[in-house]
Amino acid sequence: DRSLLGLKDISREEILSILDRAAYWESQSEKLVPVLNRKFAVNMFFENSTRTRFSFEMAQKRLGVQVMNFSAAASSVEKGESIYDTVRTLESMGVDAGVIRLKPSGVLQELAERINIPLINAGDGNNEHPTQALLDLYTMRKVFGELKGLTVSIIGDIKHSRVARSDLWALQKLGAKVQYCAPPSMAAPELAEHAPYVSMDEALKADVVMMLRVQLERHNEGLFKSTAEYREQYGLTEKRAASLSGHTIIMHPAPVNRNVEIDDAVVECERSLIFKQMAHGVPVRMAVMERALKD
Ligand code: CP
Repeated sequence: DRSLLGLKDISREEILSILDRAAYWESQSEKLVPVLNRKFAVNMFFENSTRTRFSFEMAQKRLGVQVMNFSAAASSVEKGESIYDTVRTLESMGVDAGVIRLKPSGVLQELAERINIPLINAGDGNNEHPTQALLDLYTMRKVFGELKGLTVSIIGDIKHSRVARSDLWALQKLGAKVQYCAPPSMAAPELAEHAPYVSMDEALKADVVMMLRVQLERHNEGLFKSTAEYREQYGLTEKRAASLSGHTIIMHPAPVNRNVEIDDAVVECERSLIFKQMAHGVPVRMAVMERALKD
């Protein structure tokens, strides 16, 4: 299958093959290798994005793909056209693959069953964000060589996080141990059977400390009293970062709320790989686009 809807249902071998191919693309010094210049792709973001949108476009352009960017706000979606009719319309014009980000969870699978071109999930609700998890794994693999035996703590708003889910499915397939740490209001109880919830002190002992964004746009749900209190209890403060063991790395999918879930000074400290993760998004998405489009 050339689509990439999530990592829960793809094999370990398939994940490794994408990561290996991403390493190949990262090793290429030539920026433009237009091997897919006869292919057309459309990026459809029904929810805002900076990193995913632009690294997909960068990846596509580096491979020579003819890229079209769909903006929901400037489209007939504003007149009430459905997501299915929108994607079907672009497919009927001859587009070869679609990258899609959707606000709701659970509609992408159904959409993919009705569409013939490969679809790549760029994040759907709190369900999955497979290319983010692939670039996370890619980053960990570069540091540690292999993922088997690593302990990865994912800290913060697990409930609303598609990254927490995609990383869990993929890391477990590759033999890493995932643990979560979250305030009760941000926990996802249905994931407890897959990964334990641990205290902040325990979480900080891991090989990888992955902080998640506090989704401030959901604060009206009363998830936490104040950002200052969140930082105090669950933030990666300078003091906590200084207590990590020598080999531990810090990650965050970004966007980052500086001085909420992670202190300003920690974002770009030596052991933080946050901007490296973003850089790795390009070769990983090149591998995913190639998988979707190559003849
Ligand atoms: N990490 C991530 O998905 O960022 P964007 O929402 O900016 O794409």
